[in-house]
Amino acid sequence: MRVAVFSARPYDRRTLIDANRKAGSPHEMDFLDGRSTEGQTGPRLTPRTAGLAAEHGAVCAFTNDDLGRETLTVLADAGCRSIALRCAGFNNLDLDAASELGFRIGRVPAYSPHAVAEHTIGLLLSINRKIHRAHARVREQNFALEGLLGVDLHGKTATVIGAGAIGAVLAKILLGFGCRVIAVDPSESDELRAMGVEYLPLEEALTRSTVVCLTCPLNEQTYHMVNAETIALMPRGTFLINTARGAVIDTTALIRALKDEHFAGVGLDVYEEEQALFFEDRSTSILQDDVFARLLTFSNVLITSHQAFFTREALDAIATTTIENLTAIETQGSPPAANAIPGLPATVD
Ligand code: NAI
Repeated sequence: MRVAVFSARPYDRRTLIDANRKAGSPHEMDFLDGRSTEGQTGPRLTPRTAGLAAEHGAVCAFTNDDLGRETLTVLADAGCRSIALRCAGFNNLDLDAASELGFRIGRVPAYSPHAVAEHTIGLLLSINRKIHRAHARVREQNFALEGLLGVDLHGKTATVIGAGAIGAVLAKILLGFGCRVIAVDPSESDELRAMGVEYLPLEEALTRSTVVCLTCPLNEQTYHMVNAETIALMPRGTFLINTARGAVIDTTALIRALKDEHFAGVGLDVYEEEQALFFEDRSTSILQDDVFARLLTFSNVLITSHQAFFTREALDAIATTTIENLTAIETQGSPPAANAIPGLPATVD
């Protein structure tokens, strides 16, 4: 199948080409960068760029590509009704439009839960022990410890909101640190409960936690789940880490709480308006996003640009599953059931 690959970085290109070759080169991967320069990304998929997929059987898209109704309509009009998502989350996809227009869509539901869980821990440890600030100090030969005081995580209560594939790995790591672990999740795991994880409703969990980690999908229930009301339930001195999706947090409410010194530290790998910022080198541009600019001013906020997934193992798994999904869609009319989009009919007539 001829595949139009959007938002591809050089590492995507390398791993997809490699996975396609290992599978016997069933697909023609057309990387839409046109520039072929290391470090540059091909165009994001948007209503304006979707026409580039004309004469392709499928598009291959990533987390910040726009898969709203308008884009899907342009794709369908161009005769392209297959999509291989190189990510687990699909909050950027209009499910109703995809269903109405008869799209066949595969995703990569679990490429490496370890990658994301370990990055969550990285943010937590850094923000607690101020490792990023200590590194900057030592480089300037400032060896003073004032301002770097942290807390033992051992014995603290940590809540994992969304204890699915990623949240379960995270819960196990936190148990290993000697934390009491609470999970907030409508679907409970016997395995986690047997390991000592306690399931509680959101409000109760928040009042009891020193650490709150967000590893849930973005959906109608989780949109702005962390807001002024729920932040008020968290004790002062809470650590909040978000490796889920930016819009799980109401950023304006977060900034208000940070100004009020409510949080001990906040680690963010995702941001509500990240589409306009992340995955590009913008170091020579003027930052236009005033909300993001304010977040950067807090010394107890550590931000990474959606890199929690970014390990060798995860990239290889993403590429391999993406090629498998494209092959299954081409030969059987649908991706393997495990990689289908929940809520979207697996096959279309
Ligand atoms: P998963 O589907 O295995 O687990 C999600 C869990 O969240 C499920 O157990 C589900 O029941 C639970 N959940 C759903 N609605 C909830 C709610 N209202 N409150 C609490 N829990 C709820 O998904 P997985 O693989 O663990 O990924 C979770 C999310 O992590 C993805 O949807 C994606 O948004 C994000 N992610 C972020 C990455 C990054 O690089 N920062 C990379 C991969 C995923």
